[in-house]
Amino acid sequence: MAKSATHTFGILTSGGDCPGLNAAIRGVAKAAHEKYSMNIIGINEGYRGLIEGDSRLLKASDFSGILTRGGTILGTSREKPFKDTEEGLRDSEAGRNKPEAIIENYNKLNLDCLVILGGNGTFKTANLLKKEGLNIIGLPKTIDNDIWGTDLTFGFHSAVDIATEAIDRLHSTAHSHNRVMLIELMGHKAGWLSLYAGISGGGDVILIPEIPYSIDSICRHLMKRASQGKAFSIVVVAEGAISVEEAARSKSERKKLKKENEYFTRGYEIATAIEKTANMETRLTVLGYQQRGGTPSAYDRLLATMFGTAAAELLYRGEYGKMVALEGSRVVARPLEDIAGRLKQVPPDHPLIETARSVGTCFGDI
Ligand code: F6P
Repeated sequence: MAKSATHTFGILTSGGDCPGLNAAIRGVAKAAHEKYSMNIIGINEGYRGLIEGDSRLLKASDFSGILTRGGTILGTSREKPFKDTEEGLRDSEAGRNKPEAIIENYNKLNLDCLVILGGNGTFKTANLLKKEGLNIIGLPKTIDNDIWGTDLTFGFHSAVDIATEAIDRLHSTAHSHNRVMLIELMGHKAGWLSLYAGISGGGDVILIPEIPYSIDSICRHLMKRASQGKAFSIVVVAEGAISVEEAARSKSERKKLKKENEYFTRGYEIATAIEKTANMETRLTVLGYQQRGGTPSAYDRLLATMFGTAAAELLYRGEYGKMVALEGSRVVARPLEDIAGRLKQVPPDHPLIETARSVGTCFGDI
């Protein structure tokens, strides 16, 4: 076997955690260590660990037995090293800024490559580090499934399963009380999670950021159901869903409004409006971090292991500057610069939108 292009690499997890991160770490590490005898430096708490030099040589026992564990053994953070550089903020002690500290520690650790597990924000930083000359390989993770260039991210299917199970449970209490049960799911910018779980859980109304809603349209649908003898309904709302009126405003105006209403949750606003407009008893469940916790689904373990072992092959071949991605049933590698800063939203003509409408689901738009 030819000599591996990579002798030592660092690995970090960055951004929101999700089920499958440890399965992916295991996939990369076991393949790289057992097939190619690479050294693996675990970097703690995302980019913060690289800035502060908080890392350790991983032993085989560190990445054994973690396939089914939720969270990340390395810890994570939402550190954005390039964010403050414009103001020239410098690290007081060392007189250097965060990117410089990262490059310094990358070289001090003698890394041939940095393997990064993250979402959109993480890959923006990764691409900037690539431009600074670092060798990077990315693995796409997020429960939002909003990373461009890959059909799926690990974490997503686990969150769909968790959210669907929660919606299933809401049906029985909605039916018993003849209530409108509203569940708010994660997904600030893209509605994939609400779309998939809403269909799987039999949601009567699904509201996603990509399709601005009108309260009147929602209430008409709920009242029509009631006139057909279905006095209970399930409304699935992505936390980033917006009304038609808000969609007409600028992004900065929307941000300002949100800041003024700091205890705001979209679910609460819509539940209150339904009660007022349709005079129907409504209750809200905000599923929150349940969607990001616990053991990965079987599918996410599989996907994370596929991504991890594919990343190990890129390390072996020295194919840096890429993100592994799912295309159909194959794992491919895409240039980081094609991914950075690109959000994958639900296209309004996506087949699943039609699928949902065909079973009578309302998206709040007609
Ligand atoms: O990016 C994934 C995500 O779970 C979003 O769906 C959610 O809005 C956000 O992270 C929450 O961020 P944090 O973990 O920083 O509260």
